[in-house]
Amino acid sequence: MCGIVGYVGTDQGATDVLLEGLSQLEYRGYDSAGVALADPSIEVHKKAGELSSLESALPESQLGDEPAGIGHTRWSTHGAPSDANAHPHTDELERVAVVHNGIIGNYQELRDELTTAGIEFDSETDTEVIPHLIGSFLEQGQTNAEAFRSAIDRVEGSYAIAAVFEGDETVYAARNESPLVLGLGENGYYLASDVPAFIEYTDRVIYLDDGEFARLTPDRVVVTDDTGDVVDTTIETIAWDSEETGKSGYDHYMLKEIHEQPTALRQCLRGRLEELSGGVSLENIDEMDWNPPIRLVACGTSYHAAAFAARLFRDWGVPAQAFLASEFTATEIPLSADSLVVGVTQSGETADTMRALREANRAGSTTLAVTNVVGSSAARTCDEVLYIRAGPEIGVAATKTFASQQVALMLLAAELSNHRSRELIRELRTVPDQVQAVLDNSRAKEIATEYRNADAYFFIGRKHHRPVALEGALKMKEITYKHAEGFAAGELKHGPLALVSEKTPVFAVVTGDGPIAEKTIGNVKEVEARDTPVIAVTDGVSDVGRYADHVLEVPPSTGITSAITANVQLQLVSYWVANELGRSIDKPRHLAKSVTVE
Ligand code: F6R
Repeated sequence: MCGIVGYVGTDQGATDVLLEGLSQLEYRGYDSAGVALADPSIEVHKKAGELSSLESALPESQLGDEPAGIGHTRWSTHGAPSDANAHPHTDELERVAVVHNGIIGNYQELRDELTTAGIEFDSETDTEVIPHLIGSFLEQGQTNAEAFRSAIDRVEGSYAIAAVFEGDETVYAARNESPLVLGLGENGYYLASDVPAFIEYTDRVIYLDDGEFARLTPDRVVVTDDTGDVVDTTIETIAWDSEETGKSGYDHYMLKEIHEQPTALRQCLRGRLEELSGGVSLENIDEMDWNPPIRLVACGTSYHAAAFAARLFRDWGVPAQAFLASEFTATEIPLSADSLVVGVTQSGETADTMRALREANRAGSTTLAVTNVVGSSAARTCDEVLYIRAGPEIGVAATKTFASQQVALMLLAAELSNHRSRELIRELRTVPDQVQAVLDNSRAKEIATEYRNADAYFFIGRKHHRPVALEGALKMKEITYKHAEGFAAGELKHGPLALVSEKTPVFAVVTGDGPIAEKTIGNVKEVEARDTPVIAVTDGVSDVGRYADHVLEVPPSTGITSAITANVQLQLVSYWVANELGRSIDKPRHLAKSVTVE
């Protein structure tokens, strides 16, 4: 939700760094964009629309060698996307410019107070109270650093904030519950909501913690805590290179990331499988203190991975339940000191999931983050972390992170339930190749062409395949903007069957030939009898192909890993339908990748 970036240094002009950084952060929001340059007076340029609108509106002369600046790409919360609501915002005398990611909880109270004091607001945003507050402290004779801190002290809520002042080659920043990371270059310092914004320049980073402030000048970075004491920071090295954040010849990040899944899964599995014992080995997890039942909390796609995992835990004898994080409260779901709460979140920043994890921490439970982002809020808030190691994912629709979550959670379920099986280990070892086989042979594109004008798309699956059906539908709706729904296959006849027609293809996930497959084949027949097109996603072991109009093949496996390969087929169908319809695949309307508001 909103991306912020800042730069101060001597190796290059701030404008180029900020624009390049914003282009890497657009996945966080793309309603409007803006930059403020301290050169030495404050120059603000901002525009509604994607970053390209701002770039075209920038005067040529601006692209010079400004020493410091901040930038923002917005996902609207307070006020519609417009030039006026775009960040940065300034005080009335344009002495300070501010960008913000998050929500100011007490903004109405602050706005009323400032309005009473005679301040006129230019926007509807909550953010604008911050520069005006800073301005009022400057009026009282405070220095820039003091006024920034005094203003932040008045603000409640979640925020990552950056500011520049006229005549001051410094970027000021503060963080509370919204991500902020500093980059340490040779001749310049960077700050951003996420590392891809500056990975091209440096891989040495410092993650700010809640309550911390940072001051970036051309020759140093100083981090202080909420009392003003200097913090002894840890410099970490990021293990990716800037190549990983490019499109590598694919038309869209989403397609590239779908194709990166074999590599992502190999990374996820590396060093974690024990061939001989049939067990798994996960760093620190075996030392964790916990008792069943396990509660998994997550949102959206990550919730589907959590639901898949909860079933697996139960299959392997450990009571477990997946909760939508936004519905989870520690008062309704009593937590005790030995409960285990697992937050599944690729970004590690999702506000709903973070709230649930913080509540679990307050209840004294053990918390575990299953995340992709090293140093993310979830990683730092939880007692333990299991990294899914998917590498950077830029497309807003989660693809490779979902597959990596599925695999990481399978490993977790095996570890915590003490499930030992050489067959499982062998199968996990082959998952990357199975996914590669799907990518190499998929007929998803021709199916997408045939059904691109459907009225709606339905997805059905049972047991481990139910989360796959839900995820297939979510992916379809978010990138094609078409109606799509996923159901437990058995539920179809309890209502949704009224919706099926020859214009509503049904994708049915059926693998193996046991009783579960038989029942889903029964549901397929019910659909087929109503002249509704059926696309079976199947390993061909059962005879479901006889009742389907088309087949999307997955390699034979147990019901468990087919939940990964079947999902890849469905990702491809959604991608190609969206492509046929000319949708904004990597940046679907109204969405953002990291949802840092509840
Ligand atoms: C859909 C998608 C979202 C996220 C959800 C949670 O493609 O990406 O549904 O899964 O916003 O995000 P994380 O995993 O970052 O907590």
